[in-house]
Amino acid sequence: MKPTNPFKFGSVVQEPYFTDRVIEQADIKKVLSSANHLIIISPRRYGKTSLIKKVVSSLERPLIFLDLQLITDINDFASQILKRVYRVYPFERLKGFLKNFRVTPSINLNPLTNEVDVSFLSNSNHTLLLEDVFNLLDKSVSCQYYCVG
Ligand SMILES: Nc1ncnc2c1ncn2[C@@H]1O[C@H](COP(=O)(O)OP(=O)(O)OP(=O)(O)O)[C@@H](O)[C@H]1O
Ligand SMILES: [Mg+2]
Repeated sequence: MKPTNPFKFGSVVQEPYFTDRVIEQADIKKVLSSANHLIIISPRRYGKTSLIKKVVSSLERPLIFLDLQLITDINDFASQILKRVYRVYPFERLKGFLKNFRVTPSINLNPLTNEVDVSFLSNSNHTLLLEDVFNLLDKSVSCQYYCVG
């Protein structure tokens, strides 16, 4: 019989492929339970994304994850954050916050997938756009985690 390969390459690893990083997991939990921000820096493919996803999933708290390599511009950045906030929080909860947006987003709900598509006009003021979206993150996701990686 062919032996099973205990290693997985090329994508983020979870159980049963995730190994070790015991000390790092404890360190990260400590930082996340404080009011501090955490930035993990390492050479490519050292396991940053696998590590942070593993820790956050063990805490049973919402995670907003955004891969910046897929972002095309500031407009796209703000849209993708808002889209992910919608995945975590129901529309009703966010409606009040959106009233304060100075750049009004266009939001389309796909009734088949329940997925939300968000966009802003291409000539939107970038500074206002980012301020609005970060304010929303601060208010709606306060004490939760958001992570780019
Ligand atoms: N804890 C772990 N146990 C076993 N293998 C791991 C572990 N962490 C990472 N790996 C291996 O390393 C690879 C890269 O992991 P990951 O994508 O998490 O790294 P990264 O630092 O986020 O990479 P990038 O710099 O490309 O964003 C995985 O595909 C996996 O093969
Ligand atoms: Mg990564």
